[in-house]
Amino acid sequence: MSETPQPADLIVFGGTGDLSMRKLLPALYHADRDGRLAPETRVIAMSRGGLDDADFRGKVDAEVRGSVPVDDLDTWQRFLGRLHHVTVDIGGEDPAGWARLAGMLGGYEQRDRVFYLASPPMTFGPFCREAHRAGLVTPASRVVLEKPLGRDLASALRINDEVGAIFEERQIYRIDHYLGKETVQNLLVLRFANAFLEPIWNSLWIDHVQITVAETVGTPGRRGYYDHAGALRDMVQNHLLQLLCLVAMEPPSRNDRESIRDEKVKVLQSLRPVTGGEVDRFTVRGQYTAGESGGVRVPGYLDEPDSTAPTEDSHRVETFAAIRAEVKNWRWAGVPFYLRTGKRMSHRCSEIVVQFKDVPHSIFPGSTPNRLVLRLQPSEGIQLNIMAKEPGAGEVALKPVPLSLSFAETFAGRVPEAYERLLMDVLTGNPTLFMRRDEVEAAWRWIDPILDEWDSQGTRPEPYPAGSAGPATAHELVGRSGRVWHEEGQA
Ligand code: BG6
Repeated sequence: MSETPQPADLIVFGGTGDLSMRKLLPALYHADRDGRLAPETRVIAMSRGGLDDADFRGKVDAEVRGSVPVDDLDTWQRFLGRLHHVTVDIGGEDPAGWARLAGMLGGYEQRDRVFYLASPPMTFGPFCREAHRAGLVTPASRVVLEKPLGRDLASALRINDEVGAIFEERQIYRIDHYLGKETVQNLLVLRFANAFLEPIWNSLWIDHVQITVAETVGTPGRRGYYDHAGALRDMVQNHLLQLLCLVAMEPPSRNDRESIRDEKVKVLQSLRPVTGGEVDRFTVRGQYTAGESGGVRVPGYLDEPDSTAPTEDSHRVETFAAIRAEVKNWRWAGVPFYLRTGKRMSHRCSEIVVQFKDVPHSIFPGSTPNRLVLRLQPSEGIQLNIMAKEPGAGEVALKPVPLSLSFAETFAGRVPEAYERLLMDVLTGNPTLFMRRDEVEAAWRWIDPILDEWDSQGTRPEPYPAGSAGPATAHELVGRSGRVWHEEGQA
């Protein structure tokens, strides 16, 4: 593994799609601007679009330049010069397209070659087969698979087998962009580079953990994807479970490609299954209806503008999910992990809240337990709430006060986007922040019974108004044990 990227060919399947235009190309531009792409590195977008290189560069210039933003036109032009486009209709019997790509890649077999599949999971197997048939898979090739990997355990196993028939596991990079976020990596540093937390990071001291990823955005124009995904597949199976793993994992012996993933998979395998009748007790699903978000009236999920009309799947899909999870091991026995995520919530907020137990014996009235809040976005930072005495004579009055670390204030400079970090890791051959096959499968193994139960019930999710804190039942989920969700602005 080398830190300086070697000349590489990055082939993005779905290269003109939303992910490519919004995330991958801006990330590559930033890497280029910072001198982290070798001069010879090429980015080859594959799509059915029928574009030539000039068309594609024009499209990127028109759609990406404004969002980056570009401060130096020469660097931007150099970046555009790296871009190419090949029209390939996968599954459409398009030998000419593959031959064109083979022509471009011919003679560069020694280079690192990365196939980035920014496409639906059912295309992963066929893509790999066709790339192999066209003779494009070299020993120095890697393949990046976007989430979600499948829609249940059976499809994930099939996809992993299909991709695994062409690429070795060391060549497969399953991306979860949450693992590339600065604050998520900071969680590992906080836990394993500071001595004071680890002794109290267990069920003796911690009452419960909350992991929230709340978004204010809805799903306009995404019905085709979202109707068949829903919050559980789109967010919980990957992003939230990965966060849970990082909170709950044992200290790895090394910071290397396998040690961290070995510990994460043990957490997933320790999750107590939520099955059958328990699903209703331990999970909540909701779907947003019309409401007010950011001072603007927005439609409900079913009325979001889209090219297709809502179907019965649209009525049944959840845009909010909450789950009470438990990690069945010595460290975490009896500590609930509450997970929740939703679209069109009142605030955009991703955070992990570690709620400590109260003091064993309180000599002051009004003390409340300590709480550690790891804010992933926005306003990334760490806050520890401790009890302090309010100044004044007379009775001792207590007040929870925050010890705060704001990353923006403490560390100057641009914080790289998650995709930038992860793309650089792929180009330098470092898979540590990517999901291994066993991790993905273990996550599906836990999610599947919940999906099955929801499906078999055939009922619709509980409505919640856009701009709210989610369905009422989500509050009951934590309220049953006398707990409450941590809300924006709460000490
Ligand atoms: C994606 C989901 O993986 O993550 C989207 O498919 C979601 O539905 C997005 O909006 C959230 O990512 P971030 O980085 O904005 O929190």
